[in-house]
Amino acid sequence: MCGIVGYVGGEDAAEFLIDGLRRLEYRGYDSAGVAIFGDADIAITRSVGRIQSLADRLGTPPPGTLGLGHTRWATHGPATEENAHPHIGGDGEVVLVHNGVIENYQALKDGLIEKGYQFTSATDSEVIAHLIAEGLAQTPPTDDQPHARYVTAVQWAIGQLRGTYGLAVVFRDKPGFLIAARFGSPLVIGVGRGEYFVASDASPIAGRTDRIVYLADHQLAVLTADGFSVLHRDSGKVRVNIQPLEAESGEVSLNGYEHYMLKEIYEQPDALRNAMRGRLNDQDATAVFGGLNLTPQQLRSVERIILTGCGTSWHSALVGEYMIEELARIPVCVEYASELRYRNPPIENNTLVFGITQSGETADTLAALNETKRKGHRTLAICNVVGSSIAQASDGGVYLHAGPEIGVASTKAFTSQCCVLAMLALYFGRTRHTSFETGERIIEDLRRLPAMIEQALTCDAEVRKVAEKYQSASNVLYLGRRYNFPTALEGALKLKEISYIHAEGYPAAEMKHGPIALVDADTPSVFIMPRGTTYDKVLSNMEEVKARGGPVIAIASSEDTEIRKIADDVITIPEAPEFLQPIITVVPLQLLSYHIAVLRGCDVDKPRNLAKSVTVE
Ligand code: G6P
Repeated sequence: MCGIVGYVGGEDAAEFLIDGLRRLEYRGYDSAGVAIFGDADIAITRSVGRIQSLADRLGTPPPGTLGLGHTRWATHGPATEENAHPHIGGDGEVVLVHNGVIENYQALKDGLIEKGYQFTSATDSEVIAHLIAEGLAQTPPTDDQPHARYVTAVQWAIGQLRGTYGLAVVFRDKPGFLIAARFGSPLVIGVGRGEYFVASDASPIAGRTDRIVYLADHQLAVLTADGFSVLHRDSGKVRVNIQPLEAESGEVSLNGYEHYMLKEIYEQPDALRNAMRGRLNDQDATAVFGGLNLTPQQLRSVERIILTGCGTSWHSALVGEYMIEELARIPVCVEYASELRYRNPPIENNTLVFGITQSGETADTLAALNETKRKGHRTLAICNVVGSSIAQASDGGVYLHAGPEIGVASTKAFTSQCCVLAMLALYFGRTRHTSFETGERIIEDLRRLPAMIEQALTCDAEVRKVAEKYQSASNVLYLGRRYNFPTALEGALKLKEISYIHAEGYPAAEMKHGPIALVDADTPSVFIMPRGTTYDKVLSNMEEVKARGGPVIAIASSEDTEIRKIADDVITIPEAPEFLQPIITVVPLQLLSYHIAVLRGCDVDKPRNLAKSVTVE
């Protein structure tokens, strides 16, 4: 996992490299490095920690119009300077950055060590650098085709790799020349005037050029300041499809907030307004989606929907399952993307597969969509990042328009995804059972959502007090039913992610089958129980926890006065129709984990061991 950047052109490379790495920091932030090709030599600077540490160490960057950069999320070997990229191959004739995982690295490494190559890191990536050096050693120089030897060496090296790679490589003896290659890890080329950019996604390139090439698997790009070409790994040149760059460079300032996570929690009313803008049609009491690319016949013939994603996006898929099954009466199946890819379930014709993803870069989600697409199913994306790999790879989709989400723990993307799923439920429902009147009511409820979230946010001070009380807990249970079961999972995930407190989310009634054994005076249980179908049942579960001496916190409707007699702490939220409750009830849970993490002195926006987007399997 990691982010890579490369530059060749007429300007100094350093500014693009550092700025580009900052934009890719969501892919990993445990160490970073750059290589800048100056007049005589390649200067490599590496540093443990964030891009800022690298920038500080770099000071005034060396001049040079060719360069590579890398931000790392450790897979093989801990986050040390030796394991940070760029890596060197041979005696320094090859300098490389890599994103991906090489599964057969140990066997390749053993072979290279036997040949006398010396390794200085524990990474799988260094193997590729030495392999390319070996490829060069085996390929004699030719006078007539000066690039051919380098291309052949890279082709030979990547031909031996098993696993995934997006890589960029420069050569000590070949100034002004860069090769990029991709298999399984996304890579794009920005096409400028007299300059070319390489990056793991379009975000570093946005604002530098508006023309982009999305490399496909098995493709290599050869770049100089004068031009570029794309080759297939095994065959010759391929036709290049230069596309307009859609990605937004995005607003990334803190805007007075202490952390991005808090800012993004407070942005939710606007994020939802943006998700709904232009998508609610009063005349037909339905939702409209320009990018689904479904004909009315295809829409009518959908018999099943698969929702897939990872992490928080998987939780919104669970919410979507409840919404679509209840409102549209279409069977929905929710799959972890990482399982869907290898589980090979039977998928009937007329099944739609939605990949839900904030970043559009999550490797498992991308692979799951590619796998189902390969089997002939229509794949659609519910995605935030415009022009991302998953947006590119799908047959159509819906953008969230939530704006950049920088905090690693997802907040506004979750509520925006749920909102889009509610609109999809309306859209599918109106092609079948949902009446005009019900459609009108759903639209009215959706329109009230931003105001309901604004009201839910007023609980912030109350939540902060609850956070102070429970900040030292070692275990927390989150319990809810129906629409609020996924919220329980999401609340628990938020707490784990940013405060490092163990937490579990459960359907409230399932608590009796195991988790209740954890209940004691030091284990608080958070009950998500706004008024609705299962309220009384959840109330009984709460009594069961109280009877065993467990502290209980209730997330309850503002009209619920009785609950204060039972719960130790109550956080109130506005009344909402059941299908929209998860979008409201999650707000106090986001705030609770945020305040607990701050009180415990945790790095809220960049928690340990995590990355905003997981770009390896
Ligand atoms: C990582 C992030 C989570 C996110 C998940 C899926 O684990 O830390 O916050 O939910 O990836 O990311 P995606 O971009 O596909 O929604």
